[in-house]
Amino acid sequence: MNVRLGNRSPHLAASDGTTILLDVGLWNGNATQRDETVLQDVRGPVLDIGCGPGRHVYALATRGVAALGIDVAPTAVWLAQAKGVPVLERSVFDRVPGAGRWKTALLLDGNIGIGGDPVPLLRRIADLLAPDGRIVIEVDPPGTSTTSLEVNLVTEATVSERFPWAVVGVNGLAAVASASDLEVYEVGCVDGRWFGWLAA
Ligand SMILES: C[S@@+](CC[C@H](N)C(=O)[O-])C[C@H]1O[C@@H](n2cnc3c(N)ncnc32)[C@H](O)[C@@H]1O
Repeated sequence: MNVRLGNRSPHLAASDGTTILLDVGLWNGNATQRDETVLQDVRGPVLDIGCGPGRHVYALATRGVAALGIDVAPTAVWLAQAKGVPVLERSVFDRVPGAGRWKTALLLDGNIGIGGDPVPLLRRIADLLAPDGRIVIEVDPPGTSTTSLEVNLVTEATVSERFPWAVVGVNGLAAVASASDLEVYEVGCVDGRWFGWLAA
């Protein structure tokens, strides 16, 4: 997720003027080569948190890896289900099936922002994981500070209610993980975007 100022395409707008661009075209498309690279070694079953229209779940299912997506947005869930992708309309903070048995949780495309505070989010996800489970997190590039924001989702037609969001840069990931009793065992850049792999 890129953080820039003053753009009119779909974005999250924070009260301090920060604008977080949203790549809706990416969400609605098929998995990219970068997605496939990030997903290549994940172990199933996989829980994709904030899955949107489900391109990661679809890509995993195609290669025979059991995966489930969850998302709070009815339209995203509908789009995923229309493609035959297994997705539930569910918040990660509500009851999630298979709690304690997921081998991998995905938190991609800025979804570390869900809930506005990465530590309770990661603690919640840790509770959903199997004892040897892993979390794959996409983070912002070096130089981005860890920030909690209040944002509105702005599209051409609508402005949402304000809700909490957060941004974590790759340099801040170890601190956030440690505060969540998790360990970063790998960090990498794939095709210009940054990812961390965490374990309990
Ligand atoms: C940045 S989009 C990412 C979409 C998807 N991961 C992708 O890459 O195509 C964030 C998604 O998180 C979902 N979301 C927000 N809060 C959530 C929550 N508490 N539980 C589950 N999903 C949530 C939103 O509805 C949205 O679809």
